[in-house]
Parts: sequence; structure tokens; C-alpha cells
Amino acid sequence: MLNPVLKAIRDRRSTVNFKSTPVTDENLNAILEAGRWAPSWTNTQPWRFIVVRDEKIKEKMSNAVSTFFKISVKEAPLCIAVCVNPEEDPFHFVEDGTTATQNMALAAQSIGLSTNWIGVFSIRDEKNSTERKVKEILKIPKKWRLISILPVGIPISKQRKKRKDLSELFDLNMFEVREEKAKSVKIEKPLDAIKKTHVPRSARELEPALV
Ligand SMILES: Cc1cc2nc3c(=O)[nH]c(=O)nc-3n(C[C@H](O)[C@H](O)[C@H](O)COP(=O)(O)O)c2cc1C
Repeated sequence: MLNPVLKAIRDRRSTVNFKSTPVTDENLNAILEAGRWAPSWTNTQPWRFIVVRDEKIKEKMSNAVSTFFKISVKEAPLCIAVCVNPEEDPFHFVEDGTTATQNMALAAQSIGLSTNWIGVFSIRDEKNSTERKVKEILKIPKKWRLISILPVGIPISKQRKKRKDLSELFDLNMFEVREEKAKSVKIEKPLDAIKKTHVPRSARELEPALV
């Protein structure tokens, strides 16, 4: 079965390289509307979506993002920074920010655009984190948290990452303990080598090994 929603879910892939073609206001509005209609804990809607079109600000953000694919932040004609206010939802503010991010990524996909979810949220809210750096660039108040940056635009090329087989993910009625299969992602540097030296403090530290 493949209706338009399922098709957008299936076809969405992260994009690293974007064309410079601007995103129209109509398309941007459709994407933001999808964020607005995302579910949130007790419908608190604790979010703010900052649309960044300014080239200089995007470049600063790109420099602050230490991820492998930071080029997407600079190259995309616009980025949406998804912020949440934990005072409005102290329990599920992270999930709230992620439902909005995913809704917007799927909306973009459904209208012929592409995105690249950059996860900037720092679980320990560390001083030198990417989250803090980008918050400063965008003048986001201290109490707000930054969940993601979503570069949006027309893709030049898309990655074609695969997924685990459904049979590995699906149990009936109860969790089934089974032998864990080898990771399906390509590991360039064994995770064990990283773990031996210290417990990773952030997702960023693991990223080069998981590309
Ligand atoms: C919570 C979250 C954080 C992510 N953070 C990053 C990131 O910092 N940098 C990046 O290049 N991609 C990031 N991604 C994109 C994933 O790498 C990507 O979705 C995954 O490899 C699957 O590929 P696909 O999106 O093409 O299906 C993130 C995705 C999620 C859901």
C-alpha cells in the first residue's frame, strides 16, 4: 500500500548538497504549518520555529555545527531551527521538538523538497556544545532549548540509506529476547575502540564511526 503520506515517509532521505534555488513562501508556509500541527504533550505546543535565510547567519551556524555534514546548513537556501520551552512542557519537551521536526521533514518531502535533520540538542546542556553555540548565534534565550536544525531545499543528490528488516523490529504481544544481529551500518572505526578509552559524552563523538 502506498498513499501520499506513506510515500513521503518512504522517500524521505537526508540531503547533504542542495541547489541554491530559494524555497518559495508558499512552500515554506506549508512546511511550517506541518510543524504547527505536530502533536505535543497535553497540546502544550511549546515550540518556536526560527527560519534562517540570511547567508551570513547560516554560515555562522554551519561553522558552529561540528557534524560531518555541516555543509548542508550553509548550502541550503534556508534552515529551520526548532526550539522548545521546557517551562511549557517540562516532561516531554524533547519529543515535542522532534515530532515537529519530523512533521516538517515529511511535509518538505511531500512537496518536492528535501531536508537534513541536524541534531543539535545537548543532553547535558554543556557549555561548549553545538546547541549553546547556535543558541548564541540565533539569540535564543537561555531557558529555551534548541532541538534541531533543518536545512531545507531542492536536493542535488540524496543518500540512499537502508533500514533494518521489519522482522528484526517487530514482536507480537511481548518483547522477544533474541540474538542481536550485526549492525547493518558501515562501521569505519569500531565503537569498542572509542568506548575503551572513555564513555562517549555526546552523539558527536560517535558520529565519525557511524557514517
Ligand atoms: C535525532 C537525529 C539527529 C540527527 N543528527 C544529525 C546530525 O547531526 N548530522 C547529520 O548529518 N545527520 C543527522 N541526522 C540524520 C541521520 O543521520 C539520518 O536520518 C540517518 O542516517 C538515516 O538516513 P536518512 O535520513 O537518509 O534516511 C539526525 C537524525 C536524527 C533523527
